[in-house]
Amino acid sequence: MTNHALVGDSKTVAIVGGQFGDEGKGKFVALLATDWADFVVRGTGGANAGHTIYRGDQKFVCHLLPSGVASDKCDLVNVIGTGVAFDPVAARDELTQLGFAPNLLISHRARLVLPHHLLLDRIRECGKEEKPIGTTGRGIGPAYADHTARVGLVVNDLLNPDVLARKLRRNLEEKLTILRSYDPQIIRAILNHPDLGSGAYFNEHSLIDCDAVIESYGQFGRMFNDMIVDTDSLLQRAVGRKRILLEGAQAVLLSVACGIHPHVTSSDCSLNGLATGAGLDAAQIDTSLLVVKAPYMTRVGEGPLPTEFGGNQSADWCRSSEATAEREQAVIPTPTINDSDEFSQGIGFRIVGNEYGATTRRLRRTGWLDLPLLRYAVQFGGRNVVLTKLDVANGCNELKICDSYCYTGPNYHVGERLLRNGEQLSEAIPDRNVLEHCQPNYSCFPGWEAIPQDDNEPLPKPLEQYLSALRRGVDGINIVALSTGPHDTQTRFVGSSFSLYA
Ligand code: IMP
Repeated sequence: MTNHALVGDSKTVAIVGGQFGDEGKGKFVALLATDWADFVVRGTGGANAGHTIYRGDQKFVCHLLPSGVASDKCDLVNVIGTGVAFDPVAARDELTQLGFAPNLLISHRARLVLPHHLLLDRIRECGKEEKPIGTTGRGIGPAYADHTARVGLVVNDLLNPDVLARKLRRNLEEKLTILRSYDPQIIRAILNHPDLGSGAYFNEHSLIDCDAVIESYGQFGRMFNDMIVDTDSLLQRAVGRKRILLEGAQAVLLSVACGIHPHVTSSDCSLNGLATGAGLDAAQIDTSLLVVKAPYMTRVGEGPLPTEFGGNQSADWCRSSEATAEREQAVIPTPTINDSDEFSQGIGFRIVGNEYGATTRRLRRTGWLDLPLLRYAVQFGGRNVVLTKLDVANGCNELKICDSYCYTGPNYHVGERLLRNGEQLSEAIPDRNVLEHCQPNYSCFPGWEAIPQDDNEPLPKPLEQYLSALRRGVDGINIVALSTGPHDTQTRFVGSSFSLYA
């Protein structure tokens, strides 16, 4: 197929998350992987993503592998690009789970995640010095930090045992100064986890058994030997000739480059980051699709979410260790998306939208769509927007859109500007000290009952009205498609993308 309803005759396409992750990017990646792409490339993040993909009736949850691995398209090539934090343990486990060998290539320059990266990530989240970020515990931050500090290892080191041993010893020596400030029993407990070698890397004396790590990572070198190549050159040669799909992980508002610190991940999830992570230049991308959940949005982990249903009550509940999918339904017996109590309404959206982490089942915090944040996000992910999860709001009597905020915090300097209590803000200032004190100003809209799947049937009037409000509210936004359910057929095309600068 040359032309595709979603991307026209574009050759290089990026799918970017427009909010805080979990927008439903996977469905569109899978759709294009099935009937369009020659390459599906992950260029950012690592095993911290959670993509649920299907092959026939079989369901797979991938964290690290590109979502194209389950595609039936036999000439499709899946690429783990240079910008990825590659964890060989996660890759091995996901390949085993698949039960067949997909076409998979791994960049020889991808950053290598090692057991002590997971250890450091998890130990910091125990909260000795600071408030936790609510990370996924997959070692992402420490692995990228090593890369930026120029002491990290890369996948290529797996192929060269001497280099692997030398770099690993040097890297670990540095980390031991930090690790020695912790109780060895905490270290032992964390290292007992299967993701960190089930205790095989713990040593009473040196805390981490460097020789054991060298030995098993040498084995990974042999295991992945045939897949490790120079993917940057391969993709550079393919640009303009082959159909390349860049699969975003996480999202713009979680990007280390433009997200809201410190509650971000450690890779650049923007369009630029996706390109660089695949060894390309953003100018080589023909079209980007920004995936945005509406009319509600979600966030997992810590950090500001100005429109959160029930505010702090919801944040506290989602953070609490007792909060599970089952328990919240017992606490609030019949939460619905029409509940007059906002906290319960948020639970209603979580239940109907199945907003629980793909593997951890962590509760995703829910809130109304936030236009100031969306106006900010389109600057880094493009203005072609795909709206997802619209069906979750079927039957909702009244929908709200946050158009602007009222700042209610103490006097605060943002560069040359001084924010004062009571100030109205039409834009989102990407600073937690501001966003934490932003009260949303809402516009209200009637809801819709159901969305017909047939493109020839008119959209419900209230939905048209809602889409018009979004077009008015975000300059230059081009709404390309509406997702009304998890299946490919549950997609309505309402515009054309076909150009990055729509
Ligand atoms: P890390 O990427 O594990 O370091 O986590 C940093 C922050 O990003 C935390 O708030 C995580 O909850 C969030 N995060 C990481 N991956 C995802 C994702 O795939 N979806 C949503 N949030 C994510």
